[in-house]
Amino acid sequence: MNPTVWFLTSNQGKLAEATHHLAAAGIAVRALEVPDGTIVEPQAFDLETVAEAKIRQALAHLPHEGAMVMVEDAGLFVEALDGFPGVYSSYVHETVANQGMLRLLDHLQSDDPVMAKRLRAASFQAVAAMWDGTQILMGRGKCKGSIASEVQGDGGFGYDPIFIPADLDEQGEPLPPDVLGVVSTHGKTFGAIDVALKHRFSHRRRALEDLMRQFPDGGLNG
Ligand code: IMP
Repeated sequence: MNPTVWFLTSNQGKLAEATHHLAAAGIAVRALEVPDGTIVEPQAFDLETVAEAKIRQALAHLPHEGAMVMVEDAGLFVEALDGFPGVYSSYVHETVANQGMLRLLDHLQSDDPVMAKRLRAASFQAVAAMWDGTQILMGRGKCKGSIASEVQGDGGFGYDPIFIPADLDEQGEPLPPDVLGVVSTHGKTFGAIDVALKHRFSHRRRALEDLMRQFPDGGLNG
């Protein structure tokens, strides 16, 4: 029987994504359910600290001794705002939302689309942390891009309608804004493309892959 990782999340999208990725490493994923208000997210300056604090709290709710547990935290980091909203992305999205983020960057505009992308550079970043029964492993993923000048598309969630990912080269690495990649949204935001294409850029996918690389031989089944 495949080993199981208990994923501390109530987000069905995250659960489906993790199930898909960890299956490739021979690991089954199940949601770890805890009563509302049990896990307190600390105020911290980086995603790693938040993820580790949540893992340590989750250890008190393991379904059985030695169980593996995972959390995943993500955020939007805008270069011109020194990384804000970063670890506060959920709060900022709940309060001022995408229109508020656009207002914060109103002064950073250019008629030249390449210059506009440079001025409005941003990234999604994700950390996937796992208690493997004896220690905490951390995987990190990043998706480079820029903030659009207006809301575009109504797909996805969160900041998707204002985030334009950087094109990718053959190796899946992000390219500068003046270079057309083999994987491209052609200037569209994550909110205006289908989820399969978003997946190719996904910070979350990269964090899970990085986490799997921490296992000996890249996964429990090699
Ligand atoms: P969380 O780690 O899933 O709670 O993400 C924190 C916040 O970042 C969420 O409220 C989302 O608004 C935003 N976020 C994280 N990942 C994504 C993404 O892939 N697309 C759009 N927004 C995201």
